Amino acid sequence: MQCKWTQSYVVFLLTLSLPSASYGSHSLWLFSTYICGKTQFPEFSSTTIVDDITVGYYKSGTYFPRGNTTNEDDVINLNDIKDLNDYLYNSFLRRVALLRQDSQNDSLDVFQKLAVCELLDSDKPGKMIVADAARGSTTDELSYINNTFTYTVTVNIKQELIKPHLEDFKQQCTNTFYPVCITTLKKYLKKRRDQINRKITPNITLTKKANSGGFRVSCLATGFYPRHINLTLFRDGQPVSDHEITGGDLLPNGDGTYQMRKSLEISADKHKYSCSVTHLSLDNKLIIELDEPFRRRIGVVAVLLLVCAISVILAVVYMRKGRL
Ligand SMILES: *[C@@H]1O[C@H](CO)[C@@H](O)[C@H](O)[C@H]1NC(C)=O
Ligand SMILES: *[C@@H]1O[C@H](CO)[C@@H](O)[C@H](O)[C@H]1NC(C)=O
Ligand SMILES: *[C@@H]1O[C@H](CO)[C@@H](O)[C@H](O)[C@H]1NC(C)=O
Ligand SMILES: *[C@@H]1O[C@H](CO)[C@@H](O)[C@H](O)[C@H]1NC(C)=O
Ligand SMILES: *[C@@H]1O[C@H](CO)[C@@H](O)[C@H](O)[C@H]1NC(C)=O
Repeated sequence: MQCKWTQSYVVFLLTLSLPSASYGSHSLWLFSTYICGKTQFPEFSSTTIVDDITVGYYKSGTYFPRGNTTNEDDVINLNDIKDLNDYLYNSFLRRVALLRQDSQNDSLDVFQKLAVCELLDSDKPGKMIVADAARGSTTDELSYINNTFTYTVTVNIKQELIKPHLEDFKQQCTNTFYPVCITTLKKYLKKRRDQINRKITPNITLTKKANSGGFRVSCLATGFYPRHINLTLFRDGQPVSDHEITGGDLLPNGDGTYQMRKSLEISADKHKYSCSVTHLSLDNKLIIELDEPFRRRIGVVAVLLLVCAISVILAVVYMRKGRL
């Protein structure tokens, strides 16, 4: 079997795993990849993520905790990890066999499985989702909420091939995977609470730069954690409507923090622009005004005048005192 494979798959596929859970809930993600063919990447690997923090990595039979917690034996049992990954590995092999039998297609080469369970705000166990993908597209998805399974197929897989395994998998979910996922998540939330609950203030800059047609006003918030943020551009105190704005995507920085940028194309105008940011790390809404060069100069002059005035007053007071 020939397997063509390029690195761009990894970049593309990993974006699928970006958590979308709402603020206040927590989630545990297990993201595993099976690659067939010769690459510099391991045939099978899996990554464990809590919310958006990678806590562990498994490859070639070994588990590596990530972060500065080197020993998490009390959170996860190494034998359980091995069993789980063996299970996943075998389920990939089965799936590859099934899909090949199904489509007679030799070029299938990267398979992924994403399993996630969540704890709601109130510490109540939430849903669990298990999704499978081949070559970057989701093939089928199983969700488990309130003891009810929903199975969705997104590509043409012959259901009778998957079904016997599906029933078996549902059993395992109810009896093992779901409860284990929830307890493990709870343990991680406790063990890694400082890392999970950390608050890092965004660094915000509002700029206006000339471009071909006029100017671009751009508000950038970067280096913040957690990822939930509200960033709004204002024109003369009114929020600028969404269809004028470009950007606004939440992007990860390399260091576990995030950034977001919103921009607006304008022609030369006399409006005042500002940017407002609300974030968990800020007690109040932070408002940044556009720092126009001439206004800055006026500001400097004003400060100098104020300093002069105070000096004069102090001198006068001092002289009066001296005379008394
Ligand atoms: C991480 O490292 C810091 C500084 O060495 C230490 O105080 C902290 O306890 C460590 N955290 C964990 C979870 O190991
Ligand atoms: C085989 O897979 C490739 C890539 O996904 C696809 O372009 C092609 O149409 C598939 N062929 C068949 C017969 O399904
Ligand atoms: C699950 O059950 C709870 C309480 O019984 C209910 O509030 C919630 O809407 C249910 N969720 C779904 C997706 O059915
Ligand atoms: C914030 O951004 C400004 C402008 O880009 C930069 O000079 C400064 O070093 C940044 N501060 C931090 C704490 O990253
Ligand atoms: C962002 O705004 C929404 C709606 O006003 C609010 O519910 C949410 O808490 C805000 N998020 C932050 C991080 O301030």
